[in-house]
Amino acid sequence: MPAPAPSLETTVGPLALKNPFLLASGPPTTSGERIRHAFRLGWAGAVTKTIVPDTMEIRDVSPRFATWKDGNSGLLGFENIELVSKHEESYWVSEIAATREEYPDRILVASIMASPDPREWQELACTVQDAGADAIELNVSCPHGMPERGVGAAIGQHPDLVREVTRAVRQVARVPLIVKLTPNVTEILPIAEAAVDGGADILAAINTVQCLMGIDLETLEPRPSVAGFGTYGGYSGPAIKPVGLRIVSQIARELPVPLIGIGGISRWQDAAEYIAAGASAIQVCTAVMWEGAGIIRGMNEGLSGYLSRKHFTGVGALRGRALERIGTHAALSRDRRLFASRRFPERCTSCGRCVTACRDGGYHAVSMAGGEVVIATERCDGCSLCSHVCPEGVIVMLPGA
Ligand SMILES: Cc1cc2nc3c(=O)[nH]c(=O)nc-3n(C[C@H](O)[C@H](O)[C@H](O)COP(=O)(O)O)c2cc1C
Repeated sequence: MPAPAPSLETTVGPLALKNPFLLASGPPTTSGERIRHAFRLGWAGAVTKTIVPDTMEIRDVSPRFATWKDGNSGLLGFENIELVSKHEESYWVSEIAATREEYPDRILVASIMASPDPREWQELACTVQDAGADAIELNVSCPHGMPERGVGAAIGQHPDLVREVTRAVRQVARVPLIVKLTPNVTEILPIAEAAVDGGADILAAINTVQCLMGIDLETLEPRPSVAGFGTYGGYSGPAIKPVGLRIVSQIARELPVPLIGIGGISRWQDAAEYIAAGASAIQVCTAVMWEGAGIIRGMNEGLSGYLSRKHFTGVGALRGRALERIGTHAALSRDRRLFASRRFPERCTSCGRCVTACRDGGYHAVSMAGGEVVIATERCDGCSLCSHVCPEGVIVMLPGA
């Protein structure tokens, strides 16, 4: 009899989830109908598009997205200059209630944002929790548009403001409180500590990375161009996963607070990496915009298969398992050296990329002789550049003889 598949059930602080996958706040959660569609497909939870007080006017621009793609139209990075929810509070009150009633076994998180006045945060928090939200996520991290108005990352970049807003909502919140962090700070720990100090039950990281996607060299218009002009936006998608992983692991190593990992997750492997880096659950936005909410099936199957193959009893057994291997540079071994080696010479097309890279960016250890790549091990410094530029995977790094 094969062993039963490991359970994907997990807990993040006081919240119990059927699986670790939640929709992040954004276009996939812009309406109750979209959230319920995702729940039908198997998502364990969702964070609403950020709800703001009716007094805060929200007018989006068009277009508001720009992309960076690889040669096959696969998404590498995504920029948005979209604002928060355009729906009124009353819309969300009825949609939260309707979604709760139809899907009592899922976790519905209300994302909220208000002016720096703590009373405004408290009123909005009461409104969404009275409507039935299972948890509240404080958006103190939107990097575009809203900071110009003193909210979003304008709050989240200052520990004192984060503590004040979190503490104010904590005073009225009966449901778990999540604070969503901005990566657009020099040091994440003072911000994370301030949120925990203010009463956050869970931290979610990251919101988008502030960026400028590009400039059209014919017109000199920034991308995205709104009638010829642009602004700084929020970067998301695969390109930001390394930033998210860095921040989640940095917090996990220092603070005993439950974490939700966000940023560039589009495959089960990305989710597994975030969990190994300390996250209890994860959120996805851009990948759902790009490929649809149906990706949940592959994510659940893939993660379950991985846990089973690696003999992890469940998500909790994987959580934080990579952390003991992440530390200071000084602590890294200087004793073990690897050297470039042509492990699979039959795959080599003699394209010469490794030769050029090692000549101009390495140590002159790789050359071409009679149409064949030759590695002079005594010159190799073990940097690994040649193994990365090789398009055929011919070169691998191996311990020296
Ligand atoms: C178009 C768009 C709109 C977004 N709107 C919100 C929002 O209203 N509130 C919020 O907290 N995050 C918002 N986000 C940020 C996402 O929730 C998420 O933190 C970020 O995109 C990184 O995750 P990803 O790489 O999976 O997209 C938005 C992201 C995108 C791409």
